[in-house]
Amino acid sequence: MKQTLLELMRMSRICRMVLATCLGSFILVIFYFQSMFQPDRRGQETLWPHPRTPPDRAKQEGYNPTHFSEFSSAAILHQARRDHVAESCRAQSASSRKRRVLTPGDLKHLVVDEEHELIYCYVPKVACSNWKRVMMVLTGRGKYSDPMEIPSNEAHVPSNLKYLNQYSIAEINHRLKSYLKFLFVREPFERLVSAYRNKFTLKYNSSFHRRFGTKIVRRYRKDATQEALLNGADVKFQEFAEYLVDPATQRDGPLNEHWQTVYQLCHPCHIHYDLVGKYETLEEDANYVLRLAGVGESLRFPTYAKSTRTTDSMTAQFFSNISSQQHSQLFQLYKLDFLMFNYSMPSYLRLD
Ligand SMILES: *[C@@H]1O[C@H](CO)[C@@H](O)[C@H](O)[C@H]1NC(C)=O
Ligand SMILES: *[C@@H]1O[C@H](CO)[C@@H](O)[C@H](O)[C@H]1NC(C)=O
Ligand SMILES: *[C@@H]1O[C@H](CO)[C@@H](O)[C@H](O)[C@H]1NC(C)=O
Repeated sequence: MKQTLLELMRMSRICRMVLATCLGSFILVIFYFQSMFQPDRRGQETLWPHPRTPPDRAKQEGYNPTHFSEFSSAAILHQARRDHVAESCRAQSASSRKRRVLTPGDLKHLVVDEEHELIYCYVPKVACSNWKRVMMVLTGRGKYSDPMEIPSNEAHVPSNLKYLNQYSIAEINHRLKSYLKFLFVREPFERLVSAYRNKFTLKYNSSFHRRFGTKIVRRYRKDATQEALLNGADVKFQEFAEYLVDPATQRDGPLNEHWQTVYQLCHPCHIHYDLVGKYETLEEDANYVLRLAGVGESLRFPTYAKSTRTTDSMTAQFFSNISSQQHSQLFQLYKLDFLMFNYSMPSYLRLD
């Protein structure tokens, strides 16, 4: 009895080993074929070409056998995300007649690191302060070595970083073609509520209250007090939603970057990002970028659990306070971000 049990255990261990080996080589085969059939996009675009694909760097890194399987599964995941964006762009361009090319003005969110050949499109409310800190360390020539030493206000001083729109057209094209380009995205409504909480419910920064709050109160509050009209400090989420979906707001020009869509900020259909990171998997994705950039050994992405972080259930609460018509209108406004980055429609959403 004991003998057969041992025998059985030994057998199952062998089975497990065979299975693991099979699975391992299967993943390798997928990885191999994926890189073999990587479409060469060279020459398809006129103004801003993008033939660069990261697997070259992934392969270099992956040469270390202990990292290989972890690395190739990340490579597969990011290939799937890129394919999803490309697929959504094709569907989008088929359904819309609008054709446009990028101008340098469209590139002001793209932070450039020449040293490591990186381009990061910053999206406010998606770990953007920390990414700017990391970019300052990467480009800073030794001034800072720890991202967390950099005060938040310093990370947002524009002259501390270099942006792609500051280069000549030829330099822009060269960088778009050969640099590793990445961005970080987040569930669109979570990002929106995070922006609202940060800019309208906190007392410490009155510049948004003056710039947007006073206008929102004037337009959307019927019995506003003099004080509210003057300070714009107590904008309700419902009023903010009204402001966002009002056609008059669209006519005023582009939305403020804190609530503008990623689609409009980063142009994912024109700029073919090598890597789409997600806030939901921030740490893994960020450290993967750093490894691809060749600095994975010396630099970790600063993450810490912020207790004030906007969550899905918090977002649901804010949405429970607005009408189903506003739900539909907001979904319409942020639809491309939901589609491009594969976020499903939230369960709390009421569409009419
Ligand atoms: C999209 O999301 C679904 C559900 O969350 C997931 O199963 C699928 O793998 C995702 N696709 C991509 C390309 O990320
Ligand atoms: C308030 O926000 C504005 C715009 O983002 C910024 O320029 C300013 O430095 C902020 N002030 C404080 C005290 O945080
Ligand atoms: C929802 O609306 C009520 C009444 O206006 C308000 O007291 C509450 O704070 C709101 N909740 C959220 C999460 O906005």
